[in-house]
Amino acid sequence: MHYDNFFATYLQHLKSEGRYRVFVNLERMVGKAPLALWHHDQIVEEVVVWCSNDYLALSQNPEVVEAMVAAAQTYGSGSGGTRNISGTSHPHVKLEQAIANFHRKEAGLLFSSGYVANEAAISTLASNLPGCIVLSDEKNHASMIQGIRNSRAEKYIFRHNDLADLEAKLKQLPQTQPKLIVFTAVYSMDGDRAPAAEICALAKQYNALTFIDEVHAVGMYGASGAGLSELLGIQDQVDIIQGNFAKGFGVIGGYITGNKNLVDFVRSAASGFIFTTSMPPATAVAILKSMELIENGQKLRAQFWQQVNYFKQQIAKTDLPYRESQGHIVPVVVGDAALCKEICDRLLYEDKIYIQPINYPTVPVGQERLRITITPAHTRDHIDQLLTALQRVYADYKLSKAA
Ligand SMILES: Cc1ncc(COP(=O)(O)O)c(C=O)c1O
Repeated sequence: MHYDNFFATYLQHLKSEGRYRVFVNLERMVGKAPLALWHHDQIVEEVVVWCSNDYLALSQNPEVVEAMVAAAQTYGSGSGGTRNISGTSHPHVKLEQAIANFHRKEAGLLFSSGYVANEAAISTLASNLPGCIVLSDEKNHASMIQGIRNSRAEKYIFRHNDLADLEAKLKQLPQTQPKLIVFTAVYSMDGDRAPAAEICALAKQYNALTFIDEVHAVGMYGASGAGLSELLGIQDQVDIIQGNFAKGFGVIGGYITGNKNLVDFVRSAASGFIFTTSMPPATAVAILKSMELIENGQKLRAQFWQQVNYFKQQIAKTDLPYRESQGHIVPVVVGDAALCKEICDRLLYEDKIYIQPINYPTVPVGQERLRITITPAHTRDHIDQLLTALQRVYADYKLSKAA
């Protein structure tokens, strides 16, 4: 085996399909969002970022940053161990209680990231519940899919947001057989929302547990920002709520919350929880501050939705091939990987607008797109400039709603 040839051939294949990932080298600047500095070709230029998941710009909030800095000075830079072996600090304990309160559940459990929370919790539940069958929405995130794979449990993939298909699959299974329905509150690449209340009703009817990923909803949805399940008033209907602190919260980390025994079971059995160093206590302190701002963040959420709605009203007046949804993420479809990259490069070089191309395997082949995220930090001028640039570039490639 010529190892280097193998790697080079793989990379060449990605390049030939236009799917080779090129990272944009950004320098974020506190207080300047959505602007950032772009380092490239020995120069540095200011760009407007249109694809960040720092949805509420809380990563640059002075109170959150100060909380993190002060806590690092108090507790140090790292946690010093796994949760079981010296790595449980008081802020971790406080944060887990705060997560449970936030979602009106009995207990919370922290993970290093949302990815790890999904993989660890789903794989642990599905591999330990005897004969568990997982029913998973076809558009679930890679971390949920990996959790299902690692569990080696039998799985049924139901069509995206399709209640009839889910019910048809549930009907085939004995009432007594353990079942886990895994779905997402707001789908990351399409921006659409799950029919979460109806899924929970089916779960009750067919005796299944429900697991919802609220990663793209916490912070922005619900009266206190506790996600789609809060908005729909079904927090008590969902068995396991998963979320993260890296998007709306502007920090890092993931979690699950649910009833005491279930959470204690995952705490006691999940490899991805047990065998890894816990997050720095200073991170937990920053998250607690961020959570406080979110819980009292009605004004911030109103600003967020005002900008999202303005963007949606304005894009609706154009011929751009965007996807409508009830969510805050707006995909504008291209349908070809190389073209998608070319369009993003033109926006970046010509207009200083940064949107990362989204290609396979993140979305299916033929659905390559620009995924646009709006924050309260974007002004109406930013939005108008973006739409003007998008219309110019899409028109050059004859991409429109009708095409
Ligand atoms: C739906 C969904 N779940 C989970 C994750 C993983 O979360 P994290 O970035 O905190 O690992 C992501 C993306 O990052 C996501 O889009």
